Amino acid sequence: MARTALVTGGTRGIGAAIAKQLKADGCDVAATYAGNDEAAKAFTDETGIKTYKWNVADYDESAAGIAQVEKDVGPIDIVVANAGITRDAPFHKMTPDQWREVIDTNLTGVFNTIHPVWPGMRERKFGRVIVISSINGQKGQFAQVNYAATKAGDLGIIKSLAQEGARAGITANAVCPGYIATEMVMAVPEKVRESIIGQIPAGRLGEPEEIARCVSFLAADGSGFINGSTISANGAQFFV
Ligand code: CAA
Repeated sequence: MARTALVTGGTRGIGAAIAKQLKADGCDVAATYAGNDEAAKAFTDETGIKTYKWNVADYDESAAGIAQVEKDVGPIDIVVANAGITRDAPFHKMTPDQWREVIDTNLTGVFNTIHPVWPGMRERKFGRVIVISSINGQKGQFAQVNYAATKAGDLGIIKSLAQEGARAGITANAVCPGYIATEMVMAVPEKVRESIIGQIPAGRLGEPEEIARCVSFLAADGSGFINGSTISANGAQFFV
């Protein structure tokens, strides 16, 4: 039986690689995006994966969007909370708006994505919740007090959900990507990025597909005893 998967922020970067991988695994996939219509159209043209536009920071929009996906594609078995943004600044320069935008999208957005699908997963006694956290939630990062707080928060979310969902056949796990070759990392000033690559024993950025492989593993029917775990994929940059 084909599983239905929802990937937020699923038309670009790591999310797009995850959506494609889950489709290759045989899932019926829906991907969300926040604003870039052109990229979403190109993604659907390339992959045939349906896309939906909503702001994960808004609970009502998320709930309505998810209801529409379930109507169009089917009850969601696998949810990948991937959508995220950065608003980097050293703490002494970070504005309350930079703090709030990142918290609203990266942390509240995870709640807004999982909460509407959770009751259905409980009823059907099956679910795979996967949150895309970050190496920077594990180790902290200069200029990312806001982002690191959300990514560390993700790990609290999955460890708590794992305990609540276990008896209902639902697992909740996180993937912590290191620095991956996406637009987000390419937006870091080149000199800083080069110095970051110098700290990665693998000597290179990761590829989005290397994160998608982790998600594919956690999403599988046979991964039911892996619950509350974090997979780090960071080229040996940091060990927990
Ligand atoms: N550690 C220590 N010092 C650092 C530093 C670091 N990692 N990065 C910058 N600095 C220092 C600089 O050397 C500079 O010091 P001096 O003033 O003595 O020269 C100072 O901090 C920079 O201060 P500025 O006031 O000039 O900083 P700015 O307001 O221009 O901000 C920045 C610059 C936003 C911090 C920029 O350097 C930057 O974007 N850094 C990268 C942050 C980062 O790694 N973000 C991760 C994005 S990718 C991601 O988030 C995906 C994921 O999950 C991994």
